[in-house]
Amino acid sequence: MSTVSQQPQSRSRSKSIDLIELLQCPVSHEALTPEDGALIAESTGERYRVTASGIPVMAEKFCSDDGRVQQQHYDRVAAAYIENLNYPHTQEYQKYLDGAMLEAAKPACLGVVAEICCGRGEAFQLLRDKIVGGVGVDISLNMLEAARAEFDPQKFMFLQGDATMLPLRDASFDSVFMLGGIHHVNDRQALFNEVFRILKPGGYFIWREPVSDFFLWRFLRAIIYRLSPGLDHETERPLLHEETWPVLEKAGMQPQLWRTCGFFGFCLLMNSDILMFNRLFRFIPGIRAVTRFAAWLDERIVRLPGMKRAGLQVVGRAQRPTAAASAQPSSQRNAA
Ligand SMILES: C[S@@+](CC[C@H](N)C(=O)[O-])C[C@H]1O[C@@H](n2cnc3c(N)ncnc32)[C@H](O)[C@@H]1O
Repeated sequence: MSTVSQQPQSRSRSKSIDLIELLQCPVSHEALTPEDGALIAESTGERYRVTASGIPVMAEKFCSDDGRVQQQHYDRVAAAYIENLNYPHTQEYQKYLDGAMLEAAKPACLGVVAEICCGRGEAFQLLRDKIVGGVGVDISLNMLEAARAEFDPQKFMFLQGDATMLPLRDASFDSVFMLGGIHHVNDRQALFNEVFRILKPGGYFIWREPVSDFFLWRFLRAIIYRLSPGLDHETERPLLHEETWPVLEKAGMQPQLWRTCGFFGFCLLMNSDILMFNRLFRFIPGIRAVTRFAAWLDERIVRLPGMKRAGLQVVGRAQRPTAAASAQPSSQRNAA
């Protein structure tokens, strides 16, 4: 097995930022030292192996039960999931969703970024040239392998970890992104507590997730999540505004934005890993133009009066208050 010091992600080869300094032992919360193909927590002697490709494996022993289910699931479906992202209609619709996410991220400082439940690094694909460095955390090694192959290892590190016990140091990240990960984590309080912990004061949390505030989507998803072999209804739960907002606040975050996107077009054109019929759409001439029109129409629908919460995806933003702002009573903070 290659050693950490031989990995491109190592201390010596990271010019702009020392990525290993952003990591910690998920149990003792101490810094980690690279040694012989592993990362070591010195006080406890806990040893985390690093794969031959350079991915620290930090959820082998310590992982939530839900995380374990998701790991098995995504290790199994990773190839199909990634293939689905390459269909022309998926790519075209995705541009609309990416635009909404980048708009939401405008106030954020994009210095050092964590992407949680990163899969193949969807947020990093969009932010690649805008950020100083990034650490992606996911539970599935197969998804992480796909990510690792696509990024400059001097700037991006990928590691296996559980979103509810992140192996990342306190107050170390300017922003945290989650695209399609929150709904896989049942213990939202533990997740948001972790996001708060790793963000620097004043840092931003940006997400894009399935949302089921609209009755029709709640109903359809209740059926599809049970029937589809590509989904796991016990560990996947789309967001609800009323549930998410207070949990963020309880974690100490200040929620600022909740914008839904996507309507019928999303239903028909996305999720080819689940809705297999729409894989055939890639053979339709002009499918890109049709998809652009569908996205345009969807955006108009969710901007209609009374439809603001009716989208199938939600883009959101919350901020960890600065030290000065957290000293204020919450009523004043919200008014600010
Ligand atoms: C829908 S995918 C989104 C991936 C990513 N946005 C992309 O498209 O590249 C959800 C990801 O969450 C990861 N995941 C699920 N539960 C997790 C947990 N408890 N901790 C870390 N990652 C988790 C899965 O392995 C999967 O890669």
